[in-house]
Amino acid sequence: MIILVTGGAGFIGSNFVIEWLSKNKGSVINLDKLTYAGNMHNLDSIKENSEHIFVHGDIGDIELVTQLLEKYKPTYIVNFAAESHVDRSIHGPEDFIQTNIVSTFHFLESVRFYWDSLKAKEKDIFRLLHVSTDEVYGSLEPNEDAFTESYCYKPNSPYSASKASADHLVRAYNKTYGLPTLVTNCSNNYGPYQFPEKLIPLVIYNALENKDIPIYGDGQQIRDWLYVNDHCNAICYVLESGKIGNVYNIGGLNEKTNKNVIDAICSMLDKLRPKEDGQSYKSQIKYIKDRAGHDKRYAIDASKIKHDLAWFPIETFDSGMKKTVQWYLENQNWVKSVASGEYLEWVKKHY
Ligand code: NAD
Ligand code: TYD
Repeated sequence: MIILVTGGAGFIGSNFVIEWLSKNKGSVINLDKLTYAGNMHNLDSIKENSEHIFVHGDIGDIELVTQLLEKYKPTYIVNFAAESHVDRSIHGPEDFIQTNIVSTFHFLESVRFYWDSLKAKEKDIFRLLHVSTDEVYGSLEPNEDAFTESYCYKPNSPYSASKASADHLVRAYNKTYGLPTLVTNCSNNYGPYQFPEKLIPLVIYNALENKDIPIYGDGQQIRDWLYVNDHCNAICYVLESGKIGNVYNIGGLNEKTNKNVIDAICSMLDKLRPKEDGQSYKSQIKYIKDRAGHDKRYAIDASKIKHDLAWFPIETFDSGMKKTVQWYLENQNWVKSVASGEYLEWVKKHY
């Protein structure tokens, strides 16, 4: 069994690859462009594993992807590769259109031609899972029901609009060409190896560096947080047992305001690594200008994956956050290695 994973040097992709190999599920071909968000150090723990084959390249490179598909003949593909940060999509949407739409289209073309060339038996077991986000559904009012799979698409940021476009393309390739696709729409992830431009690792990093902890607007926006390993597990369930052509929403039933999340991190750090001046890390919180088009609330109704595939998240918000804060405290070298160069330029431009 060979699986092709794209974007496997990023946050969720690297967690997925490490978990997949730890379960001895077969070889992984890991195709990643190594943008600022891709990091080979995320894969240090599997450096010596001969079942892991890393390929540096773009999902939109039809020649390269075709060669890889013909050489390794993967049974499964999981497509994580994307530009993933909303704030960056506001500063510069171009890369998001290029990778999340154009390159995804080229990738689908390569996969379609490969799948067409397979023998009937191989065709039957082949699956392409496209990893997407709850942000394609837009923003909920406080009393609205959580997003189900039939909720209409109302993306508000260049990031979510580009992901929505990709989801539509994947759907069209299933309906038009019969390509065996699956789509997962997941809520906000957190955990090891997340780049410190996203809220949770940014708060931990800034707290420990004695920098301001920035909250956009009033901090009352709500996200539905899921520990990354629970997301990876859900992807395995959908890949192995999901119904072809279906969409599965994945979420942790952990709706929190940004202020709640930041307070929780500060309280954990106060216990695990008290500040030298005796104050709480909360003293570093600073309210700043709101994000343009800031979505108020995301919430996922994960009933379908729970009922149809018997998937449940293992971590609560508290247990997942404890693991995450502990991981960042124990992996300061990793944090320091990513928080240099390009990262510093981003922070200077954005904050
Ligand atoms: P990430 O930004 O940490 O990683 C993305 C990876 O894709 C990087 O390794 C990057 O080098 C690679 N990449 C980018 N463009 C590429 C291209 N053209 N060809 C090949 N590789 C390319 O992102 P993440 O947080 O790990 O998210 C992974 C996927 O999950 C994305 O599709 C994202 O939209 C989706 N998702 C993320 C979250 C979240 O909270 N992080 C939630 C739901 C869904
Ligand atoms: P983020 O981690 O960027 O994920 P997303 O925008 O995809 O949900 O942001 C999570 C929430 O935290 C979002 O409401 C924006 C907010 N936020 C801040 O308040 N301050 C920050 O410095 C960042 C990066 C995010």
